[in-house]
Amino acid sequence: MKTLEPCTLVFFGAGGNLSRRKLIPALFHLETAQRLPAHLIILGCDIAPYEHEQWLDFVCDILRKVHGAKIDEGALQRFCTRLHYFSIPPGDDEAYTRLQTLLDDDPKFPPNVMYYMAVRPVDYPGIVEKLGNIGLLKQHNGWRRVVIEKPFGYDLLSAQTLQASLYRHLDEPQIYRIDHYLGKGTVQNIMVFRFANLLLEPLWKNHYIDHVQITHSETLGVEGRADYYEGAGALRDMVQSHLMQLLALVAIEPPLSMSAEHLRDEKVKVLKAIRPITQNAVHAHAFRGQYASGVIGGKTVPGYLEEPNVAPGSTTETYAAMKLFIDNWRWAGVPFYLRTGKRMAEGSSAICIRFKAPPQDLLRHIRKGAPQPNWIMLGIQPDDCLKMELQVKVPGLDMQTRTISLDATYRKAGEEDFDAYEGLILDVILGDHSLFLRIDEVEAAWRVVDPVIKVWSMERSFINTYPAGSWGPRGTYRLFDREDQFWRHSLNPEGGNLEAY
Ligand code: BG6
Repeated sequence: MKTLEPCTLVFFGAGGNLSRRKLIPALFHLETAQRLPAHLIILGCDIAPYEHEQWLDFVCDILRKVHGAKIDEGALQRFCTRLHYFSIPPGDDEAYTRLQTLLDDDPKFPPNVMYYMAVRPVDYPGIVEKLGNIGLLKQHNGWRRVVIEKPFGYDLLSAQTLQASLYRHLDEPQIYRIDHYLGKGTVQNIMVFRFANLLLEPLWKNHYIDHVQITHSETLGVEGRADYYEGAGALRDMVQSHLMQLLALVAIEPPLSMSAEHLRDEKVKVLKAIRPITQNAVHAHAFRGQYASGVIGGKTVPGYLEEPNVAPGSTTETYAAMKLFIDNWRWAGVPFYLRTGKRMAEGSSAICIRFKAPPQDLLRHIRKGAPQPNWIMLGIQPDDCLKMELQVKVPGLDMQTRTISLDATYRKAGEEDFDAYEGLILDVILGDHSLFLRIDEVEAAWRVVDPVIKVWSMERSFINTYPAGSWGPRGTYRLFDREDQFWRHSLNPEGGNLEAY
């Protein structure tokens, strides 16, 4: 294990949604697992005027809600000794000078500083500008690293503008663009599965693979985030970032090494090889929908238009599906189908790879029933699993076949799980960029979705709806190349035979 240097973690938006739901619990879990550096100080920054004790109460409240009575009191005490708070009232630019004095003059703050932007994307450039103007990003007595949350821009042009504003004060190695999917152990397992198992390599290409499906579905709705989601929609929120990263990991060539640059070079090559979607082909390649009211877990839930802060008649998509082709030797002609939706029938993420039929169907005259294809499936959440579907003979006198599922679920009882953010925070302290996005990756991903964003933003008079609790809008099957291709809703053998939408 590498030694972690002492550092100060300054997080902006410390009282916000991301901090409460992810960052504070992640840091505390690292504390309980004794994985934080001994000299790590956490300085929360936000607009509220908390006193020190109030801030401790705020954090402890969050953690007690998560852990209940089982909370590790010793770890909580240790954690509290790391916590400090600094208030930045809106419009008070002098606050940044006070912050500088605090960080420079108070020896309890180690000089290596990680700034985490857990704020609204519109606020990133302003904060970086203020930090930069007073010299808080200069690496004269230790490193300064800035963590930027997704979305990085809202299209290619805005991503480039944001990038230009960061480059005024930061060099590329100081910037950590987070896509928390890359921090998930199950996502990293895609690389292990592909590159530590030689037997898959000959099969991993267009000769044998019929198509690839990448799905992320949620039963949750917008959960009070309409302010952000109205301007984002499912395509920007999930597809441009998380799903495109999953696609890249499934499709990349083996990198020269697992170093950050080699890995990201290969991801960029794949993203650049995605065939551009021309504006008049958008409807053949992309489908959107919005949830209407429906029933989830036996409870009626409101439609998107009834959610707080959603504009009347909004056509923001809560479901997006795409068909993409990667125009290189390995993947020529293989469709990659991506889909994501909120308020769907189930919450799960998975990659399902369907294989082609054998060149000759030797059993066609003797087998009862239709031939079934092979599948390899990587479950990302909630169950991390790896399954392979094969055909076998049903015991008995008839030549009947059935699908069996080889289940190589790899987690053993008692093996601890770490949230995606935990590993990523430690990676920033280590200075390891492997699981963070390089700017050319971000740009390439925007190039793929930009034409769809343009067309959808012009078509504001209508959007297909789907009942909450369903598998999305019916028309989405239009994306499939052939009639025998359909969305797979489950990783169990019967999941390959469900309806087409
Ligand atoms: C976030 C999106 O990046 O990812 C959310 O903004 C989405 O809308 C979330 O719900 C999904 O992440 P996870 O880790 O819960 O699958």
